[in-house]
Amino acid sequence: MNITARIESDRRLINLHLNRVLKFGVAVPERLAAAMRYSVLSPGKRIRPILALETYFACGGRRRDWILPFCCGLELIHSFSLIHDDLPAIDNDNYRRGRPSLHRKFDEATAIIAGDALLAKAFEVFALSRAPDERKIRAIHAISSAIGPSGMAGGQILDIDQFSEMDYFRIAKLKTAEFFAAAISTGAIIAGASAEREKRLFKLGVDLGTLFQLTDDLLDYETDRSPDSSVGRNINLTFNQLQLEAQKLAKSTEMRFRRLGPEFDFFAQLTELILKRRK
Ligand code: IPE
Ligand code: MG
Repeated sequence: MNITARIESDRRLINLHLNRVLKFGVAVPERLAAAMRYSVLSPGKRIRPILALETYFACGGRRRDWILPFCCGLELIHSFSLIHDDLPAIDNDNYRRGRPSLHRKFDEATAIIAGDALLAKAFEVFALSRAPDERKIRAIHAISSAIGPSGMAGGQILDIDQFSEMDYFRIAKLKTAEFFAAAISTGAIIAGASAEREKRLFKLGVDLGTLFQLTDDLLDYETDRSPDSSVGRNINLTFNQLQLEAQKLAKSTEMRFRRLGPEFDFFAQLTELILKRRK
């Protein structure tokens, strides 16, 4: 199967499970259920759950019911972060995935609460995976530290500080790349990979996530050339410098994935797709 077909089939599987996880009974207020479904089930790329799933398979994992809850939970956390990121107090974005952002479709209070609910729901879903408890706890540790104060939340606060002296790459690592790396680590941990392999994969995940953020900023820059666009705001790197950094990083990351063996071919190809992505 070629890589785009494989991504498509992974995405279908993940969407199917997300839909199940977000089927609520009468215990959940209708408005909250609708808001959660509206944001999660919109057309996202599902890259983080795909990373967890493919790492799991590459590390020899076979039981889908062990990893799929983690895939879903990772996407719920990602959705929570997008909802809160779009709020007027943070990025003030009216659109997300080509549709009105959640606070525009509903209202701010609903968006704040739906974000909270998705974050909590993710951990409920993780706990319900049938994987061995010890692996689950290690995966939950990796994920929670990647999104906490020394990860995504820390990166977010640095990102809203217009006068931050912080280096572009450090912010990218905190706000985006560590969560990518945690998704990859999760796949390795749930499959029972060695600690050494997991560590190596985590590092590659940070680089892949940094590449993803670089290309995100490059894409933003192309659509919004105002001085306020991410690249303009994010410290003193020009478009060309960012592009060069992205190319360098993609090359080294792809090479290191190839060195892990043919099971990681998917990731070597994915690295190139990320470099060349248009959305
Ligand atoms: C957007 O993430 C936010 C970043 C960390 C750059 P994605 O580009 O993965 O968003 P969706 O899920 O595909 O909409
Ligand atoms: Mg944003």
